Formats: sequence, C-alpha cells, structure tokens
Amino acid sequence: MAAAALIVLLLAVATPAMHPQTASAAGADKETHIKVYWHDVYSGPSPTAVVVAKAATTNSSKTGFGMVVVIDDPLTDGPDLNSSKIVGRAQGTYIASGKDSLALLMNMNFVFSAGQYNGSAVAIMGRNSVMDEVREMAVIGGTGAFRWARGYAQARTHTFDLKTGDASVQYNVFIRH
Ligand SMILES: *[C@@H]1O[C@H](CO)[C@@H](O)[C@H](O)[C@H]1NC(C)=O
Ligand SMILES: *[C@@H]1O[C@H](CO)[C@@H](O)[C@H](O)[C@H]1NC(C)=O
Ligand SMILES: *[C@@H]1O[C@H](CO)[C@@H](O)[C@H](O)[C@H]1NC(C)=O
Repeated sequence: MAAAALIVLLLAVATPAMHPQTASAAGADKETHIKVYWHDVYSGPSPTAVVVAKAATTNSSKTGFGMVVVIDDPLTDGPDLNSSKIVGRAQGTYIASGKDSLALLMNMNFVFSAGQYNGSAVAIMGRNSVMDEVREMAVIGGTGAFRWARGYAQARTHTFDLKTGDASVQYNVFIRH
C-alpha cells in the first residue's frame, strides 16, 4: 500500500516536468544546422537567376526598386560552384523592395537532393539587405524531414561579380523540426 502510494506520488510529481518536451505538436524537437553555398548565376548560356519584371521607374544602378527575379539556384556544399557537390536548389523569387535602400524580399524553398535530406525542403522568407555582412531571414516551414520547421538563416556574401551580377552566398540555416 505504502509503495503504491509512493509511485502515485512520484508520477504526480514527474508529470509536470514532462510538459515542456511534449508541448510541441511534433513531439521532441531536433535542431539541425545546414551550411550551403547559394549561387546566383546571371552570366553564360544557362542562367539560374532571371529578371522577369521591372517597374517603369526601376533604376538598376540604384536600389533596383520594383525588380522581380525568379531563381533556380544551385546549392553546393563548398564555395566553388565548379568543384563543389550540388546538394539542392534554391527555387523561388526575390523582389527589390527597398525604395531608397538596397533590400530584397527573399521568398524561396531550399529543396535538398542529396544525403539524408534528399526530397525534403525548407521555406525561407525574409529581408535581405545585401550590403550587410550578415543578413538574417526566417525559416517559416518545411516538408519531409523538416515538417513543422521553424528557425532562421544567416546569409554572408562569399563572392559578387559587379559586371555580371553573379554571386555566391554562404547560408547557415538553423532549423528546429
Ligand atoms: C539611375 O541612377 C544612376 C545613379 O544615380 C543615374 O546616374 C542615372 O541617371 C539613373 N537613371 C535613370 C534612368 O534615372
Ligand atoms: C567555373 O567555370 C566557368 C565555366 O566553365 C568559368 O567561367 C569560371 O571561371 C569558373 N569559376 C571558377 C571559380 O573556377
Ligand atoms: C534522391 O531521391 C530521388 C527520388 O527518390 C532519387 O531518384 C535520387 O537517386 C536520390 N538522390 C540521391 C543523391 O540520393
């Protein structure tokens, strides 16, 4: 009797402590860090970034305000597009949405095609003030291994070619899922 009462008491005490772990809809969260390089290719015969719209007042020498770009950019595991392994694609759009400041609204899926995340994707949306050293954007969801995802991405420009517009950007993506 005394032993049974003690077990009931222990269970009663232990239960509240479990709540923080069971609060998430997906159960216990994992935190995954993915580092990839994102390549915007305007030059050459097979661009991965294409300008699809511009306002009559868009001035590309200034902020480019009003310009819309569609991307299907390769994501690689290393900084050099030619020699690194492609691990996915960044598909979506970015819009020059700063009138007087250079700021893009990024709206893209990182769709993975290699390793354990093959077939899974995360949705990234946020403001990209491209001249800043580090730009932070939100991870707003995901599919496959990244169902229920939330988190953030930090972008750092690796190379930028002023003549062609080609750019390589390091993305560190921190995902809870
Ligand atoms: C665009 O901006 C540049 C740099 O300020 C300026 O020289 C040029 O005249 C502008 N072009 C137009 C079409 O307004
Ligand atoms: C990558 O390859 C392209 C086309 O073959 C070439 O123009 C470019 O210079 C190369 N880039 C690097 C960093 O080697
Ligand atoms: C990724 O998944 C697709 C579809 O299941 C498969 O065809 C492909 O071979 C996989 N790629 C890698 C690198 O595992």
